[in-house]
Amino acid sequence: MAEYNKNFRSYAVNGTQWGDEGKGKIIDIIAGKADIVARSQGGNNAGHTVVSGDKTYKLHLVPSGILYDKTRCYIGAGVVIDPKDFLGELTTLSGQGVKLTLADGSPKLMVDYRAHVVFPWHITLDGLSETYRGKSDIGTTKRGIGPCYADKAERLGIRICDLIDPAILKRKLYETGKLKNDIITKIYGGTALDLDAIYAEYAAYGDKLRPLAADVSVLIDDAAKAGKTIMFEGAQATLLDIDFGTYPYVTSSHPVIGGVLSGIGVGAKVISEVIGVAKAYTTRVGKGPFPTELDNEIGEHIRVAGGEFGTTTGRPRRTGWFDALIVKYSVRVNGITQLAVNKLDTLSGIGDLKICTGYRDRNGNVLSHFPPSIEMLEGCEPIYETLAGFDEDISACRTADELPPAALAYILRLETLCECRVSMIGVGPDREQTIDKPAA
Ligand code: GDP
Ligand code: IMO
Ligand code: MG
Repeated sequence: MAEYNKNFRSYAVNGTQWGDEGKGKIIDIIAGKADIVARSQGGNNAGHTVVSGDKTYKLHLVPSGILYDKTRCYIGAGVVIDPKDFLGELTTLSGQGVKLTLADGSPKLMVDYRAHVVFPWHITLDGLSETYRGKSDIGTTKRGIGPCYADKAERLGIRICDLIDPAILKRKLYETGKLKNDIITKIYGGTALDLDAIYAEYAAYGDKLRPLAADVSVLIDDAAKAGKTIMFEGAQATLLDIDFGTYPYVTSSHPVIGGVLSGIGVGAKVISEVIGVAKAYTTRVGKGPFPTELDNEIGEHIRVAGGEFGTTTGRPRRTGWFDALIVKYSVRVNGITQLAVNKLDTLSGIGDLKICTGYRDRNGNVLSHFPPSIEMLEGCEPIYETLAGFDEDISACRTADELPPAALAYILRLETLCECRVSMIGVGPDREQTIDKPAA
């Protein structure tokens, strides 16, 4: 195969916990030095907040490189696209003054022909199956993500290449739609969807998306051969991965590093650096086990001080102590080469800080690796180490030396426990509120 240009560099940014680690902010910082930003998995279940001065951007499907005038943005084959939300997001960004075309008038954003499309039946079935599960629900974002990926695996999916061809769309939409209406009405007792109305609506989306359809695998390969800098923007996180997360309380895609390769269509050597993003504590939205959860006033304090409410659904996030076993697991599963730890500022003023260093299972054995099943996890008790806290407002610190000694000691301990260097520390939501921590 042809070699990549020697100037080619790439960064993959992954979530290391259960999502909402502040990937949006870190991605935005790195996007500033990238020619291309590409998304490989997930859908509009993601919610990435980017704060720049007095402007706040909420991104769900559109890669955050869109905020830079010269950066090209690609959405890969592994992503699922709700065209209504996607086009709405582009309209909102344009209303906020974000340019959607390059200087030569060509679109800044391209979408792979192979990406699957979210249809109204996916959203309906997401809601109906959650209701059907009752107390055992997953707590999904109800964006139709799971049902859309399920159809992809079932080989019933409708892709961007189908959406932009009215004849193919018509055939596939009625075939699949009829089956989905049977499931909605006969299994769940719901109301059938109007397929004629859906066809009219989606054919119009196809017209709008046709100019954006491309073979992203080829575009990325060309960019690597031309020596460009590429950032692979992760959504969700390792503990939400369908294979490596806390199954079944996971999303339906592959937020781990392997998802970048299969979701874009590139080989392993395309990735030069893997940046794992963590919060200085842990949060989770939706159901599922959470060993270090703080169901008390400290947890509530972190929720309020950290503004821990979902970007996509507005749901309050569950909060807990930093779990080093989880982040160490993510470092292994993703081959993370450096960590960005956000929201250290949120921990100011809560007294002593605890870090989970391992679990004790129901037989009293100490586990030094994150267990593979939730049944094993549920029997585990976290083992904590206590560190001194800090009371200072650290949001104006811009170098590691300016941090109070206890805050820096906390980060250094995370580094040792997670077996990975911390290269960035977040002390506030603004892209400026990030400390670059040089290698020792
Ligand atoms: P993502 O899904 O990983 O991109 O994260 P979200 O955007 O859903 O949630 C992270 C939230 O924390 C957002 O509101 C960010 O603006 C905010 N944030 C990011 N980094 C920091 C930080 O270092 N300190 C504080 N206080 N907030 C941060
Ligand atoms: P970002 O990119 C946090 C969670 C949902 C639910 C589970 C399954 O902002 O970090 P789904 O709708 O995907 O079928 O829901 O996954 N979830 C997220 N939690 N951040 C996200 O994305 C999430 N995307 C999905 O809350 O528990
Ligand atoms: Mg989020």
